[in-house]
Amino acid sequence: MIQPFDKIGKVSGELSLPGDKSISHRALIISALADGESRIQNLPASDDVNSTLSSLRDLGVEIQKNKNLISVNGRGFKGFQKPTQPLNAGNSGTTARLLSGILAVQDFQSTLIGDESLSKRPMKRMIEPLTMMSANIKATESFTLPLNFNPPSKIKSIEYELPVTSAQVKSAILLAGLHCDETSSVIESSITRDHTERMLGLKVEKTSNKIFSFVSRSDYPKTQEYFIPGDISSAAYFIVLTLLTENSSLTLKNISLNPTRISFIELLINMGADINYKITHSSNNEPYGDIVVNSSQLENIGINKNIIATIIDEIPVLTVAGVFAKRKFELRFAEELRIKESDRINSLCLNLAILGLEVEELKDGFIISGNINNYNPVFNSFDDHRIAMAFGILSSLLEGGGRVNDFECVSVSNPGFLAQLKSITS
Ligand code: S3P
Repeated sequence: MIQPFDKIGKVSGELSLPGDKSISHRALIISALADGESRIQNLPASDDVNSTLSSLRDLGVEIQKNKNLISVNGRGFKGFQKPTQPLNAGNSGTTARLLSGILAVQDFQSTLIGDESLSKRPMKRMIEPLTMMSANIKATESFTLPLNFNPPSKIKSIEYELPVTSAQVKSAILLAGLHCDETSSVIESSITRDHTERMLGLKVEKTSNKIFSFVSRSDYPKTQEYFIPGDISSAAYFIVLTLLTENSSLTLKNISLNPTRISFIELLINMGADINYKITHSSNNEPYGDIVVNSSQLENIGINKNIIATIIDEIPVLTVAGVFAKRKFELRFAEELRIKESDRINSLCLNLAILGLEVEELKDGFIISGNINNYNPVFNSFDDHRIAMAFGILSSLLEGGGRVNDFECVSVSNPGFLAQLKSITS
């Protein structure tokens, strides 16, 4: 489906968004592990979260939906049933990697599959540490899906320093570590999102250059009531749109303000953005509150290597901000972008070149300069939800609007994107 976008005149009003995707996957998985009923409010109806939900159902977990409330009947320690079919993670890397941490420690055989894009993404990063914990996982020769999990003899604890900066890998180890009496520790030298640690209430220690997270069976979860705060990565598109549209102001309600997720807001503020946010509530150790955004003149600044992991999902829309900001936009140290739902470095460069901008593609990023000279562009989504939404926003900023091909892939994280956009623009 080709989606047209007209230039937006003004952004105004308030917006509430469906729950954060990362927190939602974890709320479902942690509820499924606990013994008995947990309830989850504001779970998004996105394809990725549905992949986790349906995989858990295939493991024998009863899950009921009642309007905005989901009830999960968790199966307790090692209570999952052997699935009768392969578990399908769809497009969702988080489903694949987090569920692997659980499947690796079960006493039954299981298989994990995914769509074409996910089947190309690297799994070695999580297979390696799980194998060190005695997991028995078979992958393709190139360590991609499908994965076959065979029962391990006995899961061993691990002390593991992450060679890649990945919250998904960290979380897979921590979830497996819940099944072991001895304490496991995961060591990071860069900050990544810490939802698993917060939601399980794990012990975390920080030194000047390392973060240690500890887990053992004593942290095994109990049933809980969850409220999932609005998705800050979905909010990012509307934040950038408001900043770059004249005479505009937007309040985003009850958005996740987890400190490991707000770096892109801090970066925009340092670029001159008028954004205010305040933590007013907390649920399951996850802080949230409102974000108020006003139109601003932005200026590009250097992006520090050590924040890349904490802005990784926002880089597509941050690049849109960078295109309209003063001075050239330069991104480095972001090689991980090449192994997301699409090769996001290449997807961004190809789409920006369509606008007539000068684009220098680098191994780990790009440099964008020059002026827009195509005012009727047709962008490609590359079947990547974040590329689709970023170029929907960019199109809404152009005099003659623009179009985005294969736009339906936005359902991966935010099927309500177009309705939300309509509700705050005129
Ligand atoms: C996620 C971690 C990040 C992020 C992804 C969600 C998570 O991936 O890009 O969208 O929920 O743990 P990596 O762990 O591969 O960096």
